[in-house]
Amino acid sequence: MDLIKETAKRKTFAIISHPDAGKTTLTEKFLLFGGAIQTAGAVKSNKIRKTATSDFMEIEKQRGISVATSVMGFEYAGKRVNILDTPGHKDFAEDTYRTLTAVDSVILVVDCVKGVEEQTEKLMGVCRMRHTPVIIFINKMDREGRNPFELLDELEEKLEISARPLTWPIGQGQSFKGVYNLYQKGLNLFEANTTRISESIIRVSNPEDPELEKWIPESFCKRLREDVALIEGVYEPFDKGLYRDGLLAPVFFGSAINNFGVKELLETFLEVAPSPDKREAMERTVKASEETMTGFVFKIHANLDPNHRDRTAFFRICSGRFERNKFYHHTRLDKKIRFSSPTHFMANEKSVIDDAWPGDVIGLYDNGSLKIGDTLTEGENLHFRGIPSFSPEIFKSLENRDPMKSKQLDKGIRQLTEEGVAQLFIQPGNRKIIGTVGELQFDVIKFRLEHEYGAQCDFTPLRYHKALWVTGTDKEMLEEFLRRKWTAIAHDKEEHPVFLAESEWMLKVAREDYPALEFHTTSEFKTESEQQSNGIH
Ligand code: G4P
Repeated sequence: MDLIKETAKRKTFAIISHPDAGKTTLTEKFLLFGGAIQTAGAVKSNKIRKTATSDFMEIEKQRGISVATSVMGFEYAGKRVNILDTPGHKDFAEDTYRTLTAVDSVILVVDCVKGVEEQTEKLMGVCRMRHTPVIIFINKMDREGRNPFELLDELEEKLEISARPLTWPIGQGQSFKGVYNLYQKGLNLFEANTTRISESIIRVSNPEDPELEKWIPESFCKRLREDVALIEGVYEPFDKGLYRDGLLAPVFFGSAINNFGVKELLETFLEVAPSPDKREAMERTVKASEETMTGFVFKIHANLDPNHRDRTAFFRICSGRFERNKFYHHTRLDKKIRFSSPTHFMANEKSVIDDAWPGDVIGLYDNGSLKIGDTLTEGENLHFRGIPSFSPEIFKSLENRDPMKSKQLDKGIRQLTEEGVAQLFIQPGNRKIIGTVGELQFDVIKFRLEHEYGAQCDFTPLRYHKALWVTGTDKEMLEEFLRRKWTAIAHDKEEHPVFLAESEWMLKVAREDYPALEFHTTSEFKTESEQQSNGIH
């Protein structure tokens, strides 16, 4: 009974956006509403600033702070809200993709001036792949932005999802008056204010209600009525089922910095967003309501203090009740493992807990036995799917600068890649190729190898364009391919062969010459066809 009640209470989600659209500001306002923080500005420190790209120490400092704030939990209106933080910096996109495997839904923030940006599209691709329900918040309505209808068209076209406005802006920028709530039939008047935590909604029966004229100028009322008529005529009514299947995104307009439209968003989110339900494991579908505990590791965070080489594994509970000090089955290592001090994260604090429920993300102390993607159960051999590696975009070979320290370098690079800092590909002769999505990771690796493992390295840029996992039922053809292309073949840590293509054209030729082989853009092959249709390349 507790299990059903606790599961239904939980809403585990991430706020995602292109950098600067307002993710940090919105997160902070949610925490203010939840009473988890008292002052604005408390979350700011978690952000890796764009100017920090060359200032690695600053990033490290901020990374340190982010340990406590990577998961932010609070109680609101009888619900337990778990916000999973994702790094805003694009070089940490891989980290964000992995975090998205641990949520039940997302809120996507879009800047009304800039519209859909590059990172928005990429993140949305990951959501589509997993059919994650998405709510869109169009932010910065206090600025002169784009026409809201035009923005909706762009969302539908670029994000390949149907959009359904649930609130509608009245004016914009200097003349922004507020929003009309199409869902709850109310008027929320704009007031520039960064600290208030209440929003007063004026109830109106419909847009024709003469009550509107009392609050907003006539010309704005007229325009609103026309807009609403158009919306109701063109857009299908909001359908919770379609939203939950990831096919329809409800859209809200507001201004996070002014705390405007945030409460409406949060309350509708709590009403419509799914609680933990079911998860696909390789062997079967696992329901959150199952009595036995299951869950997986989606993120590893190293302690930055070189004297304490321990790490925190972020573990998402999928079913059952997690208990402190109970032995669980580590399916990859086939061994029993227990945790004496699992932690919960509440805003900026973490505390040891005795139990946790589906949807919760807890921190597990790890001395090296946990890896990203590991599953824990009460004995069953399960492997949760959906934590693939994506093809990196930048490749460099790793050169050891101190031959006396090659053991340290080997160990360091293995551990760092297990944490998901970068991907490691090995070629014959133990030649190591590091693949990342951003330049910043190379600074991170270099710095950490030196400070945590005492190893020194250099990187030589390589001209590869993409890494593709190769499979094929025609064993002879596969072997011939691997032999002929040996200079462009490496193996990942699981010893899967990977083709390092120098260009899109080379890949096309390989596909034509070896038609029986499959070239996968992620390490999780079974979802490949889905990814192709979802635009993840
Ligand atoms: P991010 O996490 O998505 O990268 O964005 P963040 O919340 O840090 O917001 C980026 C910038 O946009 C910040 O300004 C923030 O104050 C501003 N902002 C957020 N919401 C709104 C809004 O509703 N209206 C307007 N006009 N601005 C908004 P900054 O100058 O980069 O930082 P700061 O000096 O304000 O901290």
